[in-house]
Amino acid sequence: MNIPFFKIGHRGAKGHAPENTLLSIQTALDMGVDMIEVDVHTCLTGEVVVIHDAKLERTTNGHGYVRQKSLEYLKSLDAGGGQRIPLLTEVLDLVDKRANVNIEIKGKFTIGPVAKVIRHYIKEHGWTYEHFIVSAFTRHKLKKLAKIDPNIRIGALLAYRPFGFVDFARKIGAHSVHLNAHLANPRIIEQAKKAGMKVYVWTVNRLEDIKRLKDYGVDGIFSDFPDRL
Ligand code: G3P
Ligand code: MG
Repeated sequence: MNIPFFKIGHRGAKGHAPENTLLSIQTALDMGVDMIEVDVHTCLTGEVVVIHDAKLERTTNGHGYVRQKSLEYLKSLDAGGGQRIPLLTEVLDLVDKRANVNIEIKGKFTIGPVAKVIRHYIKEHGWTYEHFIVSAFTRHKLKKLAKIDPNIRIGALLAYRPFGFVDFARKIGAHSVHLNAHLANPRIIEQAKKAGMKVYVWTVNRLEDIKRLKDYGVDGIFSDFPDRL
């Protein structure tokens, strides 16, 4: 998709439905998003599941670490309003190429399994590498991503300390930099664009901030309310 500005649904449409659930993703699709962002971990039995935190307490009625639980246990939990924790594959089946998908790596030992899922959907279900961005915060994970499959588009996430970051992202061949809204000033945006990367900003919900960032010329915005973009 060659779109001038990407409307990106954050954790689906977190402002309208329980985050990172199929309902949230369907809501984002209904709002006409160009891309959907989801957070992923690998669970004990090896599947990639869509949930933000390493622990279950905040978003489900379960307890403990996602990585120490079987898929069977995770599937028994309520992730809000009767929704279940989805598998990454269930998200991709629902989206079915109607939007791009930004998979944010949260968990340990998750990069390899995510790359496997992406390659499977490219080979068997008509997806392309252009449908995906895989992002992460830590430089360690980003370097690993760059090594695992050079075709996978990397999104370099930045929460704080911007010094040297654009250079680092360019060196590892990142497709895009994903800036925390408080770091998104015209200088860093221009620097990233000059280095050939897209600039996406998270998480922006206020109309005046959305307008200001659009005026700065960012390539996309993550919002809990993608209908505002
Ligand atoms: O990927 C953008 C944004 O989701 C990063 O922060 O904590 O919401 O995953 P977080
Ligand atoms: Mg995220």
